[in-house]
Amino acid sequence: MAVLKIARMGHPVLLERCRPVPDPGAPEIRRLVRDMIDKMEDAPGAGLAAPQVHVPLRLFVFRVQPHRSTGALDDTVIGNTVVINPVVEPVGQEKQLRWEGCLSIPGLHAAVPRFARVRYSGVDCDGRPVAAEVSGFHAGVVQHENDHLDGILYLMRMTDFRQMGFNDEVARAEELAGRMEAIRAEWAAAETDPAARVPQTGAFG
Ligand code: NI
Repeated sequence: MAVLKIARMGHPVLLERCRPVPDPGAPEIRRLVRDMIDKMEDAPGAGLAAPQVHVPLRLFVFRVQPHRSTGALDDTVIGNTVVINPVVEPVGQEKQLRWEGCLSIPGLHAAVPRFARVRYSGVDCDGRPVAAEVSGFHAGVVQHENDHLDGILYLMRMTDFRQMGFNDEVARAEELAGRMEAIRAEWAAAETDPAARVPQTGAFG
């Protein structure tokens, strides 16, 4: 297995508009897809687009693992999937903010507005059609990967830069928000029922 290196933000390949794949079944494309799937699993990531491994061609791989799916009916869980020469179209105009990271922008993640529902189509390495209409995480990852093929990184889609941070800081902030929520619930309970009054939990300790 070839070990692919991931281009990080700042490398010009990430800003290119990628070319269509002339022959999806060509041996070098099959090899590239296999290596990209290995890299995605190893990273680990939910998706990887060809320009992220320095190949400016229109293809990406992705997966929706059960823990990623929102559980919505068409936020379909799906194993490793390749989409060659993809077309991604919004279904309706509704957008949702979803937290995203990118293997080319390590350490950070942020809330990005994405279409809530999309339809995508393309082919696999055997020329078989790949197509679905999806929502939730599935819709988000397909839009993120497809953007890479037009030289667009998720930061360029952002509208609120307050909702961005280093992974560990955001995780800490989320944990703190959860603890504060629990304290507020305790206070609310104590207000309506003095018997429920509890000593300080030391949550700020
Ligand atoms: Ni990315």
